[in-house]
Amino acid sequence: MMTRHSKHHGPIGIFDSGVGGLSVLREVHRQLPAEDLVYIADQAHVPYGNRSREEVFGFSAGIVRYLLKMQVKLVTIACNTASAVALTDLRAKYPSLLFVGMEPAVKPAAEETSTGVVGVLATPATFQGDLYASTVERFAKGVKILQDTCPGLVKQIEAGQISSQETREILQRALTPMLEEGVDEIVMGCSHYPFVIPLIKEIVGEGVEVIDPAPAVARQVERLLNEYDLRKGKQEKAEVSFYTTGKTERLDNLLQTLLGRESKSMGLNWVGENLRER
Ligand code: DGL
Repeated sequence: MMTRHSKHHGPIGIFDSGVGGLSVLREVHRQLPAEDLVYIADQAHVPYGNRSREEVFGFSAGIVRYLLKMQVKLVTIACNTASAVALTDLRAKYPSLLFVGMEPAVKPAAEETSTGVVGVLATPATFQGDLYASTVERFAKGVKILQDTCPGLVKQIEAGQISSQETREILQRALTPMLEEGVDEIVMGCSHYPFVIPLIKEIVGEGVEVIDPAPAVARQVERLLNEYDLRKGKQEKAEVSFYTTGKTERLDNLLQTLLGRESKSMGLNWVGENLRER
């Protein structure tokens, strides 16, 4: 493993239970176009949101071990659920590795709201985590927080259904009660959800802000690379590679649907607690 203090030009590792983290990869690539990126989608196990802490921690740790073998210089946990469950312990386990995690952007929403009502869409595991509880406790005093887990939404997005009637109905069920309570800020607390922001905007209309944390996550990646002098030279072309523990054709189709990207992804298998190339 490389230490924080060595000059190292490996890729940035980014992972999620599935394609949600692509909303973060898209921003990291936009803000840091020279950087090589390795994306791992654990589609054999998606969704993570209803799984036990032990399971999600085991998957996250296995992915990080694999990324370390690929000599990554920084790991972005592009998944609120995995961050809620595993970020603190992974930092303790790998003190010399740089991590960027995600948590629902309650703080900016609480600062911006004028109605005092904020909606948060995230998975059950994210809502149950200590990270979320402490964020709400610290930053949302006096603000009414409405939460919804949007059952079935991750599955719809994993199926590429970002504008279907069923997806719209899931969102309507979540958002209608929030609108009735006067919500004016809605936080995407799951990295899959930014892919349905156009649909969310159609439902909530003007005057309701929808917060996608991906740009802030990418800025944090950039800050850390600058701080540890880990930026790659601009002259070379960046390599962006995609891996899945599910079917590669499925991920390739989703890369096209969600990012408009023509890519051939590579397959990984879980062998016990570890990932192996197919
Ligand atoms: N994209 C993930 C998140 O940010 C996980 C969704 C899931 O697998 O349930 O929480």
